[in-house]
Amino acid sequence: MTDSPKTPGMKDGLAQYGDNEFSLFMRKAFIKAMGYTDDALERPIIGITNTFSGYNACHRNVPDIVEAIKRGVMLAGGLPVEFPIISVHESFSHPTSMFLRNLMSMDTEEMIRAQPMDAVVLIGGCDKTVPALLMGAASAGKPAIMEVTGPMMTGHFRGERLGACTDCRRLWGMHRAGEISAEDIDAVGNRLMPTAGTCMVMGTASTMALMTEALGMMLPGGAAIPAVMADRLRHAEDTGARAVGLALEGVKPAQIMTREAFENALRTLLAVGGSTNGLVHIAAVAGRLGIDIDLEAFDAMGADTPVLVDLKPSGQHYMEDLYRAGGLAPILRELGDSLNLDCLTVSGRTLREDIASAEPDWGQQVVKTKANPIYKEGGIAVLRGNLAPGGAIIKQSAAEILQHEGRAVVFSSLEDMAERLDSPDLDVKADDVLVLQNAGPKGAPGMPESGYIPIPKKLAQAGVKDMVRISDARMSGTAFGSIVLHCTPEAAVGGPLGLVRNGDRIRLDVANRSLMLLVDEAELEKRKAEFKAPYHEGQERGYLKLYLDEVTQADTGADFEFLRAVRKD
Ligand code: FES
Repeated sequence: MTDSPKTPGMKDGLAQYGDNEFSLFMRKAFIKAMGYTDDALERPIIGITNTFSGYNACHRNVPDIVEAIKRGVMLAGGLPVEFPIISVHESFSHPTSMFLRNLMSMDTEEMIRAQPMDAVVLIGGCDKTVPALLMGAASAGKPAIMEVTGPMMTGHFRGERLGACTDCRRLWGMHRAGEISAEDIDAVGNRLMPTAGTCMVMGTASTMALMTEALGMMLPGGAAIPAVMADRLRHAEDTGARAVGLALEGVKPAQIMTREAFENALRTLLAVGGSTNGLVHIAAVAGRLGIDIDLEAFDAMGADTPVLVDLKPSGQHYMEDLYRAGGLAPILRELGDSLNLDCLTVSGRTLREDIASAEPDWGQQVVKTKANPIYKEGGIAVLRGNLAPGGAIIKQSAAEILQHEGRAVVFSSLEDMAERLDSPDLDVKADDVLVLQNAGPKGAPGMPESGYIPIPKKLAQAGVKDMVRISDARMSGTAFGSIVLHCTPEAAVGGPLGLVRNGDRIRLDVANRSLMLLVDEAELEKRKAEFKAPYHEGQERGYLKLYLDEVTQADTGADFEFLRAVRKD
């Protein structure tokens, strides 16, 4: 119970009628139509972003989470007010969810800013929602705390444990190779997503949840609790209660999400063998606070940050196993002094204190030790070279081929790839390098997760499991293979990836962090002169125009330039 809140409450951000007292009178009169008493309206107001959508199965449990958060807010003496925010699901977003992430971040920022609230609880889960909410909250600047929907439980098929979406891709690949019948792949489709919640492998949702907790924006223990567990609701209730504390203390996101906290999140990304998307998203969140992510420093961090977590696609377990193993705490404990332990978290304590208050290790098998890791370096390596002067990345912990030189087989767009990839006439051999152009932020547009270029059917049927694949696209964190992503600058803005032609030689050397197009400079200059930006139907107006005009490259998070923080230095 809070007798005299120090928070603005209903006075926050009044609608402008030229008379503030009248504005407050009107606001209170309208909200009383909801049945609130004066006592309720005097409390700290905690906004709750309701990201439920009939199109978003990963957020199926949001109504339960909202109820638990409300309970926590009220037990702590606050007034909870939920409000809708755009909800984005991976499979229901054309052309790709990444195209809509920045829109969701704008919705989040403006609705937090426009409506009276002393703090906000952000409910995220599905891949793009967590970064979008963090981006929006960072820009809005009011106290904020994250609750995620939590991972799904695993499914099963004929005795085999299944997890979305590593097994979606693996089994679909087997179906393409003729090893699984049409009837069986349909049956698998009924079992891959057996409960509410997010993908339960180390995909983008799991990665972002763990990074958010390491960043300090989620109460300890929240990242790995499965969506259907009672612990998820207890965590949500605690989050609601803590939001009231944050409101009264006035702790802003910028005080939590510091440069040191972003370093903790990046080290966590490496240690969990996380999704490559985590790097793009965290760069976008940091950019909202005027902080640049240094790709070279991130790569160097990988040298002393092994992959510790034995989860698919780099390992063998699933998120529910990580939850039973203690969640993020054993990972942070193992990382120890390599973290910035004095960072403040939303708990009101330091990261060091949060780790100390977690359950002790009981000899679990999911989080390995630094001495006996899953992969001796960080999961993601940053590549440079004339094919990616602004950088490219490879998830080395999920790749088989780390050193290779081969002949380029080029697809000029997603449409071109869809048309020709499976053609029996395609001139392609197992040691070729598949190149996909124009699938970056402006090229596709939206930088879709199409970097996982399927093995051409005739090679797949001949038993080829992996090839070097290079693009300016992203890749689902649930995928695996020798896949180079995020080539910057992208082909659609004249980047060198767009200059590759069939038959060129390409050399990948992950140990030396090098990605080279072996074509002489004079020839490349000639090709550059022929560059023509791709045209997108409808690009003259609306959100597509805004997107194409403003989206930045992958190294700055593919955010909109005008949404990034105005640098003060
Ligand atoms: Fe929502 Fe995977 S589709 S988390």
